[in-house]
Amino acid sequence: MLGGHPTKTSFERTLKTALRWNPRRREIMRDLLALMAAVDGPRLEILSQEHANALRTADPASGYKYLDVALYTLQKLLLAHELGLEGGLPRRVLDIGTGGGHFPFVCQFFGHQVVGIDIDNELYKGIAACLGIQRTIVRVTPLALLPNLGQKFDLITACDVTFNDKDDRDGRRVYWTLAEWAFLLDDLFAHHLEYPGTLYLKLNKEWQRGFFGSDRLFFNRELLAMAARKGAVISRRRGIIKFSLASRHEIR
Ligand SMILES: C[S@@+](CC[C@H](N)C(=O)[O-])C[C@H]1O[C@@H](n2cnc3c(N)ncnc32)[C@H](O)[C@@H]1O
Repeated sequence: MLGGHPTKTSFERTLKTALRWNPRRREIMRDLLALMAAVDGPRLEILSQEHANALRTADPASGYKYLDVALYTLQKLLLAHELGLEGGLPRRVLDIGTGGGHFPFVCQFFGHQVVGIDIDNELYKGIAACLGIQRTIVRVTPLALLPNLGQKFDLITACDVTFNDKDDRDGRRVYWTLAEWAFLLDDLFAHHLEYPGTLYLKLNKEWQRGFFGSDRLFFNRELLAMAARKGAVISRRRGIIKFSLASRHEIR
């Protein structure tokens, strides 16, 4: 498998856990191997060498982890199955904060058309190039409409989002407010989602004050509750929000 060195054990663990009870494990393994065969291996090897030092010392949660192309392609392959993208008609997909482009890579493999937006980042750009994916540079900004992306999308995804992480104030992280989230969701529903359509968000945990006064990582409970009230299917455990909409929807 390609780019497997940094988190080889987590790849094997994910693979084992994900596929043990999965009735489609043969199909998933076959697709993963086909996807890995499509990676520009020599280019990925050069990129990994360039970042070898940083990779050894970096926080495991840092962006260098995405050099483990096999692990993150597997994750996105499992997501593609969860969203029913492994079959059916070609769909138009918008992936917000696309990172190294692992999800667009899987979507394209299944014949879908994907626009992956993100801010500029040389490492992510390099990984995406190894996957044959082009990133579109668009910054998500609180309380600002996204630009016209030239089309509407049947599916909008945003996985492990960090665009809501605003800054550090007095030693504490500051995240988007509910009003800022509502603004983004309404913009996506009004201007970027085709109906029927699906919006899928996988949150990152936020530092919040825990019960005993110390900061701990939690998914944003208020956001999850608001999404549930507005008709989304949510997972509090996984930090997932999924709107499956037949027609235009509003949050505010
Ligand atoms: C944790 S990574 C997740 C990458 C990818 N979605 C995945 O699941 O593999 C978060 C991504 O959000 C992007 N990002 C952060 N702030 C952003 C902003 N304001 N607008 C767009 N993308 C942003 C980062 O550059 C990074 O690619």
